[in-house]
Amino acid sequence: MTIQICSLLSWALFCSTAMLLAIFLKHRKGCGKSDGKLPPGEMGLPWIGETIEFYRSQRDNQLFEEFVQPRITKYGKIFKTRLMGSPTIIVNGAEANRFFLSNEFKLVVSSWPTASVQLMGINSIMEKQGEKHRCLRGIIATSLGPAGLEILVPKICDSVQLYLDKNWNVREEISLYHSTKALTFTIVLECLLGLNFEPGTLNTFERVLEGVFAPPISFPGSKFSRAKKARREIKEMLIKVVREKRKKMESGLGGDEGMLFSQLVSGMIRGEISEEEVVDNVVLLVFAAHDTTSFAIAMTFKMLAEHPDCHSLLLQEHDDIMNKRRSGENLTMEDTKKMKYTWQVARESMRLFPPIFGSFRKAIADIEYEGFTIPKGWKVLWTTYGTHYNEEYFKDPLTFNPRRFEEPIPPYAYLPFGGGPRLCAGNQLAKLNILIFIHYVVTRYNWSLLCPGEQITMDPLPFPSHGMPIKVSLKSS
Ligand code: HEM
Ligand SMILES: *[C@@H]1O[C@H](CO)[C@@H](O)[C@H](O)[C@H]1NC(C)=O
Ligand SMILES: *[C@@H]1O[C@H](CO)[C@@H](O)[C@H](O)[C@H]1NC(C)=O
Repeated sequence: MTIQICSLLSWALFCSTAMLLAIFLKHRKGCGKSDGKLPPGEMGLPWIGETIEFYRSQRDNQLFEEFVQPRITKYGKIFKTRLMGSPTIIVNGAEANRFFLSNEFKLVVSSWPTASVQLMGINSIMEKQGEKHRCLRGIIATSLGPAGLEILVPKICDSVQLYLDKNWNVREEISLYHSTKALTFTIVLECLLGLNFEPGTLNTFERVLEGVFAPPISFPGSKFSRAKKARREIKEMLIKVVREKRKKMESGLGGDEGMLFSQLVSGMIRGEISEEEVVDNVVLLVFAAHDTTSFAIAMTFKMLAEHPDCHSLLLQEHDDIMNKRRSGENLTMEDTKKMKYTWQVARESMRLFPPIFGSFRKAIADIEYEGFTIPKGWKVLWTTYGTHYNEEYFKDPLTFNPRRFEEPIPPYAYLPFGGGPRLCAGNQLAKLNILIFIHYVVTRYNWSLLCPGEQITMDPLPFPSHGMPIKVSLKSS
């Protein structure tokens, strides 16, 4: 309790110091003057701007409905605001998404909060630009491309089945969100990277993730301090593993070519990347996959529970696939390609409940866009909701209708995985993870939600506030 008060006080102190600084800078520099016309919108108080309104609506998972939508109505799809000291332009719509996402490195660069950068590490792919980004992305993409994924399918199947047998068969009540997080962690670390870890490791990683969007203030007990401590533990552990792997590979004992960890270490042996880059990107991959995949799966199950007709159709698809295999056999890539309807259901769930609200960019030059000028140094926030919830692109946008994906979707209108050079590197892995998990759950278990109207909270990634408890029982075979 006292720790929380302390943390609030010091955060308030930090804010007011920053505010004074902002006022000082404003008088000195004249508030980001530009000859061009700025988009309409309110900048609010110095430094604070509209930060409080932004976080309040984010916490209630109403960031689009309460913060963005009313401003679109008032000012149009592009408007200015000020968040946490940064003048920011929020942009909505397929055209804006295309413009800002495809101009990554040319007009904008991705821009993460201080805490995220410190915890993921300055050497992670999200901090890389241009040539360095291309190089790292190339190494990561080998394992996440078609050939790499083909090898992953049986491994994912094995992990999912093992996990379910061990955890779901012996219990009636399960937290779906907790299960998917544990599984995603295993799939990324063991199946994709090829690393084996002790049971407590997930906890240590989760402590890091909890701090990624926390205020970047360090004192004993703050989320950020705990996260940094956990991050140091992970670093020490990973450095050992990296060095052992390097030794093994240099003496010709790699063994698991194709596994992403070996790819990273080979890159290091070839001198293309550093030891820090290997460590930071392992942490980043866990972070990028963890809450996003889990939330996508949780929301897909929520939609299935609320639309029994969709559930029957989907189950039919999986029964057909299962009936063609001997029991206990792993699925193949071919099988996952038959899960067309399931993927429509998952995509529609991600349209209505995108795991990522949007993300920040920073202008690296003065940008002319739609008759407005966005001054160099300002932030730009593109959004998934701005198109996902717009009837220009999706008829009856609030209706759950997986069949809408039978028709082609206009480019840059459906962006759960982003777009442009920073398109999610793991989107095909996420797809496999989602499809395979659904397959084993719906074919093996009768399940129902225990908390049907469960609230979704954002912090700032969305999650079901009670962990999505479900009741499960094995189907008689
Ligand atoms: C449903 C699950 C997922 C969703 C919705 C998702 C969404 C996204 C989005 C929107 C971005 C772009 C962010 C931006 O433009 O600033 C991104 C980037 C990224 N994602 Fe994912 N992601 C998911 C799963 C994964 C998985 C499973 C992995 C890998 C294990 C992964 C690895 C990455 C990486 C490495 C990047 C950075 C790419 C770059 O900077 O070049 N993601 N993801
Ligand atoms: C499924 O795949 C895993 C991992 O590749 C393998 O160990 C296991 O033997 C496979 N199971 C069957 C029944 O083939
Ligand atoms: C599973 O649910 C179906 C339909 O609700 C029911 O007919 C079946 O008996 C259930 N099976 C088990 C093992 O509970």
